[in-house]
Amino acid sequence: ATEETLVLVKPDGVARGLTGAILARIEAKGYALVDIRLVEPDRERLAQHYAEHEGKPFYEPLLEFMLSGPSVAIRLAGNRVIEGFRSLAGTTDPTTAAPGTIRGDFGRDWGLKVQQNLVHGSDSVESAERELAIWFA
Ligand code: CMP
Repeated sequence: ATEETLVLVKPDGVARGLTGAILARIEAKGYALVDIRLVEPDRERLAQHYAEHEGKPFYEPLLEFMLSGPSVAIRLAGNRVIEGFRSLAGTTDPTTAAPGTIRGDFGRDWGLKVQQNLVHGSDSVESAERELAIWFA
């Protein structure tokens, strides 16, 4: 079914000038850009977005990283786009993400406490609705 998902180009992706390369893959795959904006989220917005990770060892480093610079938020639409974008992104760890994926091709392991893995994509219809409301309030 046609779905919408939230994609973030995280601060490492924006800072490294990879926004265009990431968008090119999304567009080549045929997904539709419904809305796109540069966002500098505050701590409160990030705490909402990452509520499920509160208390995990990477939670604080994750918020610090996400506060380190702007992200690009994208409202993306398409048939099975939630699953499809996660497939384009590759798995969380950039070292083992498959070549051909965004994280596999561009992601670097900096040896930090948090994976700076370039992109975020919602993991379910429920998460997508919740996250889109946070980033496109
Ligand atoms: P994201 O899809 O934005 O959701 C949570 C983020 O936390 C994830 O991408 C990574 O940036 C980071 N993350 C998730 N799991 C780990 C982990 N085990 N170690 C370090 N960082 C992680």
